[in-house]
Amino acid sequence: MYSSKVMEHFLNPRNVGEIKGANGIGEVGNPVCGDIMRMEIRVVDNRIEDIRFKTFGCGAAIATSSMVTEMVKGKTLEEAMRVTNKAVAEALDGLPPVKMHCSNLAADALHRAIQDYLNKEPSKGKALYEQD
Ligand code: FES
Repeated sequence: MYSSKVMEHFLNPRNVGEIKGANGIGEVGNPVCGDIMRMEIRVVDNRIEDIRFKTFGCGAAIATSSMVTEMVKGKTLEEAMRVTNKAVAEALDGLPPVKMHCSNLAADALHRAIQDYLNKEPSKGKALYEQD
C-alpha cells in the first residue's frame, strides 16, 4: 500500500522536535481527520539553517513532514516557498489515493513558518518579494 520511501520516513523520521531560537513557526490542521502538524525553522541569511517538526497524525503525515524537512534544509526561502504538497508526495513516490489528503499538511506548515518569519522580519519579506 505504501512506497518503501514512505515506510522508511515513517519508521525513521528526520528532523523531529523543536528548535531553540526558532524564528518561524507554522502550524496547520487537517480538516479531513483533525491531525495537526507543527513546523519550526531557524532562518539565517535568507536560508533555512534548521527545521524541525512535530506531527500528531498518521504515518503518511509523519512521512511527508520528514520528507519536506529534508527537501528544504539549507535552501533559500524562495526555493522553500516553491515546494508544493504535490512535490513532497512525489518525492515519496506517491501516496495511496485514500491518503492523498494527508499530503496537504507538510508544505502548508512550512510556508506558514516562512510567513511567520517574514511577519516578524518585514524588511526580509520585502527583499524576498522583490526578488520574485
Ligand atoms: Fe490525518 Fe493522514 S489521516 S493526516
